[in-house]
Amino acid sequence: MPTVLITGAARGLGLDFTKQYAARGWKVLACSRSADGLKGIKGDIHHHALEVTDYKAVKALAAKLKGEAIDVLICNAGVGGSRGSTAQNLGAFEAEEWRRIFEVNALAPLMMAEAFADHVARSQQKKLVAISSIMGSVEKNGGGRYFYRASKTALNMEWSCLALDLAAKGIICLALHPGWVQTDMGGPTATLTIAESVPGMVKVIDGLKPSDNGRFLQYDGSELPW
Ligand SMILES: NC(=O)c1ccc[n+]([C@@H]2O[C@H](COP(=O)([O-])OP(=O)(O)OC[C@H]3O[C@@H](n4cnc5c(N)ncnc54)[C@H](OP(=O)(O)O)[C@@H]3O)[C@@H](O)[C@H]2O)c1
Repeated sequence: MPTVLITGAARGLGLDFTKQYAARGWKVLACSRSADGLKGIKGDIHHHALEVTDYKAVKALAAKLKGEAIDVLICNAGVGGSRGSTAQNLGAFEAEEWRRIFEVNALAPLMMAEAFADHVARSQQKKLVAISSIMGSVEKNGGGRYFYRASKTALNMEWSCLALDLAAKGIICLALHPGWVQTDMGGPTATLTIAESVPGMVKVIDGLKPSDNGRFLQYDGSELPW
């Protein structure tokens, strides 16, 4: 069976990715800071403790897993910014919050991609997926949430670069928007349930072909503008 590695695998969208792939019999390398959310899930699940901004730990995990072929790597871990905080509002910007959001959403996925590119390259499917957001789209910009939006724009550019640089290895790089989903981040008024979003994203990932390298898609497979 194929192997998937997921960051932020024990909560929200990441937890459902874990459940979906485990239910299909895949080997799941479930990376998360705590394993609590994974309790009771059946399947070939291997938990690896990982704070994604601990780059020594990212490299150590890549070395520990050096024999693995990772068919699908999903950089899912992300932060939206503290709820109710004004730190991302023009007039009240807080530099520390910018650094925190950029570190988790833009730097950490790039360090994961670098550390694990060879694991993905030696697999059958060779898919490198960033869970991005429509909020990173320059063309669809609705204003506000400066730090979160900009971090996802940076992530998109990184994936666009990776698509060029890793094409020779046969890796398919995809930036994927889950929709607005009812998780801790999306909140209860989001338009989609996890059960609507994650199976859609899994279907999109399943269907990726080499010609999809460097695309920005959403959970239903439709194209998004950069
Ligand atoms: N929900 C939406 O509407 C929506 C829309 C567009 C994009 N997204 C993107 O989808 C992804 C998942 O979001 P979600 O909705 O599932 O949010 P969530 O419920 O808040 O979950 C966030 C996940 O990221 C993990 N995480 C955050 N910082 C981390 C760190 N430093 N190291 C390791 N793990 C870390 C969390 O782990 P802990 O449990 O350890 O905190 C958790 O698993 C994010 O990249 C988000 O930007 C979500």
